[in-house]
Amino acid sequence: MATASAPTSDVGTLPTDAISYEDLYARWERGQWRATELDFSEDARQWREDFTEFERQAALWNYCLFFWGEDAVADNLSPYIDAAPREEQKYFLATQQVDEARHAVFFKRFMHEVCGIGDGSMASGLQAIRPQLTSGFRKIFDRLDTMADELRADRSPAKLAAAVTLYHVVIEASLAQPGQHFICSYLERRDQLPAFRAGMENIAADEQRHIGFGVKLLSDLAREDPVGVPKAVAALLRDVTRYTAQVLMPPGWDERYITTFGATFDEVGVEGLTSMTTKLRSAGLPVESLPGPPLLPPGLTPLELSQRGRALAKAGILGVREGPTRRDPETVALMFDTITRQVDPSHGLSRPVTFQWEFTDPDISTWHLRVDNGSTAAVQGEAERPDLRLRLSWQDWADIVGQRLNPLQAVATGRLRPRGNPLALRKLMRVFPQS
Ligand SMILES: [Fe+2]
Ligand SMILES: [Fe+2]
Repeated sequence: MATASAPTSDVGTLPTDAISYEDLYARWERGQWRATELDFSEDARQWREDFTEFERQAALWNYCLFFWGEDAVADNLSPYIDAAPREEQKYFLATQQVDEARHAVFFKRFMHEVCGIGDGSMASGLQAIRPQLTSGFRKIFDRLDTMADELRADRSPAKLAAAVTLYHVVIEASLAQPGQHFICSYLERRDQLPAFRAGMENIAADEQRHIGFGVKLLSDLAREDPVGVPKAVAALLRDVTRYTAQVLMPPGWDERYITTFGATFDEVGVEGLTSMTTKLRSAGLPVESLPGPPLLPPGLTPLELSQRGRALAKAGILGVREGPTRRDPETVALMFDTITRQVDPSHGLSRPVTFQWEFTDPDISTWHLRVDNGSTAAVQGEAERPDLRLRLSWQDWADIVGQRLNPLQAVATGRLRPRGNPLALRKLMRVFPQS
């Protein structure tokens, strides 16, 4: 068994220092509840008689994400227990795994007994709801699966920190918790589904504890490896945040799936974003301090970030592309504004450099980006003397920005033709090191 390892560096006092693993464990012992003893008969009546057809469809779409998610997090927690360095951390994670199994059982019962989904077995319920999962949700939960495999092979503090960031910060704090608040608040306001609501409130309390633990563990890991952990956390966030706007993406982007219950996509989005940045700050890893290009385009409020994430996803720039990328001037301008904000401030260029995009599509105008300390800007039209000219299709450029096309591969296959100073191509890599 592992032995306790004391923190080796100090990042100052953090809010997580006030919580102990023993305390979190004790809270688990006091917070027991029984998913198998809830009586769903009144819920089933209300579901049939009081919900409209569309409300049933919208609620079910949303609850399916939770059902699948609870099963997935229960399945994938074991390697976290193995990788945690301290016994107290392992014990808490063992309690968390029990909680996640209980949450999955709760959703399976609701799905079967109230919504008539599946034959009562876990497998049949999951199989039946699979088509409801959104593209962003699939990407993030696929990453959770591969992360579990990576953690089995590498138990280093940096790998565990990346895994905890994905599980406890992204999935639990920024996606699940705002979703639970959304559901709990409309059920309370409408005074509906009493047993489901009681279960959801218990789940929300459990998740609060899990998130508190995750943030504490992250802060301890960051003290243990103050260089490797921020790097690993930044890389993980860079990998998954491009999909978060498409997690709560209603079918056909029909936002009535959310507004029918009195909330908006942006209200849930802002809560998710704020929750993520707050938890990272509490762990001593504020998002703006993480290495590399800015993770979130700077200078925007949480509401603007939510709106922009949705606009970029809807346009087929960010995340999973479900059709050709939009090509109207507003979309092109939004994309260039976003990449300008995400220029790596530590690019180390000694003099201003101008990159120019010349699209092979006759309807997309040329744009150029001048990277200069303090006055970096993208402008529509040709530059006087660009250092590097990039000739490619608008679709390929959107795919490079959305990390669906590797730029080096695009050069190798002739889809991206750079012209000008060859050194400027290297400089472009320094300006956008993720590409
Ligand atoms: Fe859960
Ligand atoms: Fe959880």
